[in-house]
Formats: sequence, C-alpha cells, structure tokens
Amino acid sequence: MYTVKTLNHISPVGLLRLPSDYFTVDAKMENPAAVLVRSANMHEMQFNEELLCVARAGAGVNNIPIDQCTEKGVVVFNTPGANANAVKELVICSLLLSSRDVVGGISWARGLTGDDVPGQVEKGKSSFTGPEVYGKTLGIIGVGAIGVKIANAADALGMDVLGYDNNMSVNNALELSRSVRLAYNINQVFAESDYLTLHVPLNKETKELFADMLSQVKVGVRIINTARGGLIETDALLAALDNGTVSCYVTDFPDEKMLNHPNIIPIPHLGASTPESEDNCARMAVDQLADYLRYGNITNSVNFPDVDLPPIKGLRLCVIHRNLPNIISEITAAMGEAGINIENMASKSKKDMAYTILDLTGGTPGSGTLDRLRGHEHIIRLRVLKA
Ligand code: MLT
Repeated sequence: MYTVKTLNHISPVGLLRLPSDYFTVDAKMENPAAVLVRSANMHEMQFNEELLCVARAGAGVNNIPIDQCTEKGVVVFNTPGANANAVKELVICSLLLSSRDVVGGISWARGLTGDDVPGQVEKGKSSFTGPEVYGKTLGIIGVGAIGVKIANAADALGMDVLGYDNNMSVNNALELSRSVRLAYNINQVFAESDYLTLHVPLNKETKELFADMLSQVKVGVRIINTARGGLIETDALLAALDNGTVSCYVTDFPDEKMLNHPNIIPIPHLGASTPESEDNCARMAVDQLADYLRYGNITNSVNFPDVDLPPIKGLRLCVIHRNLPNIISEITAAMGEAGINIENMASKSKKDMAYTILDLTGGTPGSGTLDRLRGHEHIIRLRVLKA
C-alpha cells in the first residue's frame, strides 16, 4: 500500500484514479511515500526518509526545494501543458485589458449616479480609449506548451507574433502557426514588441534573462506576466511605469506595491483557475505519481530523466544514482554475480543524476547484494518492485 499526502485541495477527478487497493490518500498522512501539491510552500518542510516523490498539479515548481529533493532521490513531477489552455485564455484577456482601458472604464462607470448616466457615459468615454492589438507585435518569451497556444491565438487575432525560446521542442515548433516568427535572441524581442508576455519558469537563469529588459524595450510597451512574480524586479518596474517606458503591466502575481498603481492590472493568480485545468493537472499529476510508485517509470520530472519500461513481468530494480562512470556496470555486475539475468534495461541521465531500471529474471537479489548496492556512495536510492 502506498501512502499519499495532499498538501492542497486536489481535484477528485485526479484522486479517483488512485485505486484504493494500492493507495491511501490523506491530507494528514504521516511519513507519506508521495506528496501531491499545488501551491503550498514546501521550502521549510522536513522531508521524511520514506518520501519517494512529489507531484505538483501545475507547471511552476518554485514552491518546492528541488535541489534538496534531488539530493535525497525524491522525484519531483509537474504537469506541463495541463493548464496551457486556461493560461492562454487569461493571457488573451490580459492582452486586450492592457490595451483597452476596460478596467478603468468599468470602475469609473460604477461611480456614476443620476438620471443622466447614458449622457455621462458618452461624455466621459474618451478617457478610456486604447489601441487595437490587430497589426501590433506581440513578443512571447518562452514558446513551450503555453507560449505556442498564445502565439497561434494572437496570430489569429491579426497580431505579428515574435517568439523566443532557447530550448524549443520539435513538437512545439511543429504546432506553431507558419506566420509566427522566431527570434534568434531575446534582445530582438524586447526591441520589436508592442506587447510582451512571459512564459518561463522562475529560476536563476530566467531572472537574468529579464535583468536588462526594461532598458531595451520599446517605449510604451505593455507587459503581461502570468509566469511568476519574481521574474521582474518590482521597483525597477514601477520606475519604468512612472516614466512611461512601460505603459501597462498585467500581472497574475501582484505584490503590495502594485495593488493601487493606475497602470498595473493586478490579477489574483487566476491563470490556471478553471475547473478544466484543475482536473487536467490533477489527472496528470496523479497518473505520473502512480506510475512511478508502482512501476518505477518517470514521466515529466523536473529533476530526474524520463525513463520507462513496459509493464513489469517479474522483478524490477529501480536505481537513482549519480551520473558517474562505472555505476551502471557495478549494478549489472552485482546482478551477474547473484546469477540473475537482466531481461530489459533503461537508463538516462539529467545533469548530475541518473536513473536506471532493470527488469530481472532467473532469481531474486538477496539482501546482501541489495544492501551492498544501497551502501554505494553514488547510489542514492534503490527500490525493488514486483509484478
Ligand atoms: C502553474 O504554475 O501551473 C500556474 O501558475 C498555476 C498554479 O500555480 O497552480
């Protein structure tokens, strides 16, 4: 029986996919084998030794201490693409709100009184004029699952779309509308865009991407940030808004200083807040978690490579180890010495870590063999799974 702790509300559409004869799920679970999380901050949490994986129902993983998980052999999953349509729709909405002062207009109209409201509306409406997006350039930083959908939708609105991604997948490239242009460097996107939308995770490298952005953008640019708040430094942004460099900032991650700025539209992190997206994320997170716990297969991990083998027929050895010479040969030699055949094997690495799965026949490794491997200085975690 595998124990799963939920740190946030997870859609039942996902949880119901965990059969009760294999999994127990509870928000108060002690020492779980797996954690399901949405936005709960895990940075201060103590991790129990039994914890095998964390599955984030969402894309961003900045609420999870990834380095610590990696060192302990805890596989962290996310659900890329599961909320892409929800985020795309909010970005298109934000794009239009950043241009046409609908938010300011609504707030002004709510304050009108008297019999002559229609007359006041006609007289006052010119204060809320804003340009059309048709024919303008939209720069998309990060053309992943979300960025591709936005590119195609903005293209259909008649925008000139310029994307930048230094690590674009072939699948995403194939999905892009043919009229979407791809920039060779980020500076080109900053310099050409009337509107900018950000779709990269928050980490040291991506923070650096935006460090000089405000000195390179087109004057009057409108910026949409549904990715993460920390990507742009707040004080620099406020200064750019005050001197007109940026004419509007729509953010799904407002901080206190942003709430009452006239040119900021603060949205309370609604990017993925649709029932469809919550169900999709929960379904994907749960399936990945279950496949890892029961079969050792890894799909969509941010800290370990994707590795999988067909269903287990006999015994499966799953080894998380450092990506160093000789480790795989030591594992296979140990099986050979114990007279065990390796029927199938898959191994991949990601940065300093590697993951190897071996399907075994002709015997069961004894505790001496397993303990010796577990004691190896570069083997982080070893599990034996049965069909
Ligand atoms: C994500 O990272 O998937 C989105 O920002 C939504 C969320 O945090 O739940």
